[in-house]
Amino acid sequence: LGNGLAKTPQMGWNSWNYFRCDINENVIKETADALINTGLARLGYNYVNIDDCWAEPERDSEGKMVPDAEAFPSGMKALADYVHSKGLKIGIYSDAGLYTCQVRPGSLRHEYDDAALFASWDIDYLKYDNCFNMGIDPKERYPPMRDALNSTGRIIFYSLCEWGVNDPALWAGKIGNSWRTTDDIVDTWESMTAIADINDKWAAYAGPGGWNDPDMLEVGNGGMTYQEYRAHFSIWALMKAPLLIGCEVRNMTAETYEILTNEEVIAVNQDPLGIQGRKAHTDGPDDCYQIWAGPLSGQRLVVALWNRCSEPATITAKWGAIGLESSASYSVRDLWKHEFVSQNSVTSFSAQVEPHGCEMYVLAPVTAASST
Ligand code: GLA
Repeated sequence: LGNGLAKTPQMGWNSWNYFRCDINENVIKETADALINTGLARLGYNYVNIDDCWAEPERDSEGKMVPDAEAFPSGMKALADYVHSKGLKIGIYSDAGLYTCQVRPGSLRHEYDDAALFASWDIDYLKYDNCFNMGIDPKERYPPMRDALNSTGRIIFYSLCEWGVNDPALWAGKIGNSWRTTDDIVDTWESMTAIADINDKWAAYAGPGGWNDPDMLEVGNGGMTYQEYRAHFSIWALMKAPLLIGCEVRNMTAETYEILTNEEVIAVNQDPLGIQGRKAHTDGPDDCYQIWAGPLSGQRLVVALWNRCSEPATITAKWGAIGLESSASYSVRDLWKHEFVSQNSVTSFSAQVEPHGCEMYVLAPVTAASST
């Protein structure tokens, strides 16, 4: 692909999970303002992405896509200028088929014209969906838009939304900066956990430049508990998933804000090593005591103790289960309590974990010099 983007997973906001088709330019502008005013932008959430329903159902007489006249009366260039004036980037949405999922024009066989139009609006990011695809192989439908975007001379992030149908992890690394590995997320515990498990299978294919995308965050949309949203955010961060906020950021609860702004968890996601953490060990009834782990830069390790049972549980991470030498000594920092649990753990550590809760830690090697 070679556009130099996505060295770490993309971060930002997208309109779909909360607003669906009920979008307009004021919502987008006020969301950009809110990303700045809340401090979310400073933490890295810098893409403001417009999803489906921004376009009129028909192309104009010249064959161009047209922004919905009622919702976006000032047009997309003006909106992009506004978002850029805040120091943020703007994303748009189209489809590798005849229509988008909400039956707006798709870009199949219009790739070069549409990419040129998006570039003329100064768009920075394209999410490219998979509806009305005529049964044509995605390996034929997704590369033309990559080439069209590259031909514009503008650097545009390319997000494939193929829903994991044809195992995109196996081929999309040469095409896009991220690829959806699953069907759409729903704001429930069942959906979130099922998606985490599917995305885990493709871990080996993610890395700097191209990421597995288990879909956007539901944190703050009301369908899960605080503990469940904390687990959702922790595991998405550990899996090096795109962190695209999907809630109403103009009006967040303190709990939503606390989760989305956890800088230590964000740092795990944005770690330069860029290795997707995995489900490393399971135990307990229905394997619901889970340890997810992965390497970080500086010989460190991220470890999540995830209780997927409905009763509180003590979960223990033994060095062997997370791939460490049995005699190695590590400091253990709790990323939700923001404190060191231990400065010198030698074989394991444990935590009491709430039902559906997830505790998350960074382990760093303790050398003889740093322990004295
Ligand atoms: C598909 C995608 C979603 C969203 C909708 C919009 O379902 O997977 O993420 O973009 O289309 O219609």
